[in-house]
Amino acid sequence: NKGHYEHYMQKEIHEQPESLTTTMRGRLIRRGSSKSKSVLLGGLKDHLKTIRRSRRIVFIGCGTSYNAALTARPILEELSGIPVTMEIASDLLDREGPIYREDTAVFVSQSGETADTLLALQYALDNGALCVGITNTVGSAIARNTHCGVHINAGAEIGVASTKAYTSQIVVMAMLALAIGGDTISNQARREAIVDGLHELPNKVREVLELDQEMKDLANLLIAEQSLLVFGRGYNYATALEGALKVKEVALMHSEGILAGEMKHGPLALVDENLPIVVIATRDVCFSKQQSVIQQLHARRGRLIVMCSEGDAASVCPSESCRVIEVPQVQDCLQPVINIVPLQLLAYHLTVLRGFNVDQPRNLAKSVTTQ
Ligand code: UD1
Ligand code: BG6
Repeated sequence: NKGHYEHYMQKEIHEQPESLTTTMRGRLIRRGSSKSKSVLLGGLKDHLKTIRRSRRIVFIGCGTSYNAALTARPILEELSGIPVTMEIASDLLDREGPIYREDTAVFVSQSGETADTLLALQYALDNGALCVGITNTVGSAIARNTHCGVHINAGAEIGVASTKAYTSQIVVMAMLALAIGGDTISNQARREAIVDGLHELPNKVREVLELDQEMKDLANLLIAEQSLLVFGRGYNYATALEGALKVKEVALMHSEGILAGEMKHGPLALVDENLPIVVIATRDVCFSKQQSVIQQLHARRGRLIVMCSEGDAASVCPSESCRVIEVPQVQDCLQPVINIVPLQLLAYHLTVLRGFNVDQPRNLAKSVTTQ
């Protein structure tokens, strides 16, 4: 049921304040005599000790689910001190990459039925790793065959392009980082700030959804373009990949997410006054590096669309020709939840304006159950 929306993708983008609330329900708690703010993931509590002892955490997924895992890598490394590596399921299988008994392998899949992710799960089980699932589908193959896991509880997602499942996956993985990280005195303030950030996230998403018309206007400007680049780094490297994936899969426009730190190693050659480029430059530890990227793109007459934190337009924009998308600021590790929303809206409007099928993009399936 699409309610008053025209498309499922549109409905699912707009219901993110509610889906995120459901994802967090009952999972944000106060713990111990100090009543410090913490998280409770019921599906993991008996396995946390084993996970904390593992030598490495390996995230495994495909498509949007891989991107969601990538957003969580920095915060999980920071809070746990455990090395985190990333695997696209098919690539792990192609290489028969090493997986050890001392590894925790985390399988991320909205449907819980993706063939490559399932085969990678069987491979990791055969190699003796502790296997953790993060899925939206109770009773799915991944939920059944992992040792333990977390349901993201985002509600059914119908649009082939994943939107609300993506933001719920990010939130679950931030909670996973808090759960694995454990309560140490040294990171208590950081942990509590993240829990506070989680509490206010649905309202911040509601705010960023108000950019709907602005994104429609931007889509109108980009309607006839051949290509769109998206530059990000740090917490928002994954946002660049995921924003570009949305544009590619539904609007059928070539789009590429680029790690800004790699700009000089190739992508800069593409920059001219015609190619539109989105640069994600919200406030975090990478901000000044992104300011310098913007300057360098501007010096090559790049056609810039900069996403920045509210109030930063003047400090990020090198000239009046640069367009700005101002978004509310939240905790750095949660900022990808906010930043993806305007890009979801952009992909949605571009698709409708270009006259393509938003909910059933050409050649794609919601769940890829064959190799
Ligand atoms: C569970 C209940 C929820 C109830 C809550 C009350 C289910 C599905 N969930 O939620 O209805 O409100 O307790 O405390 O009954 N699991 C895997 N692999 C996965 C995902 C999950 O093995 O990929 C396992 C978990 O380890 C856990 C079970 O499935 O044993 C349920 O997981 P989850 O729904 O996330 O647990 P709770 O949030 O505790
Ligand atoms: C398909 C979907 O390609 O599978 C994507 O069209 C999705 O939206 C990908 O990200 C992975 O699916 P899942 O269910 O494993 O998260």
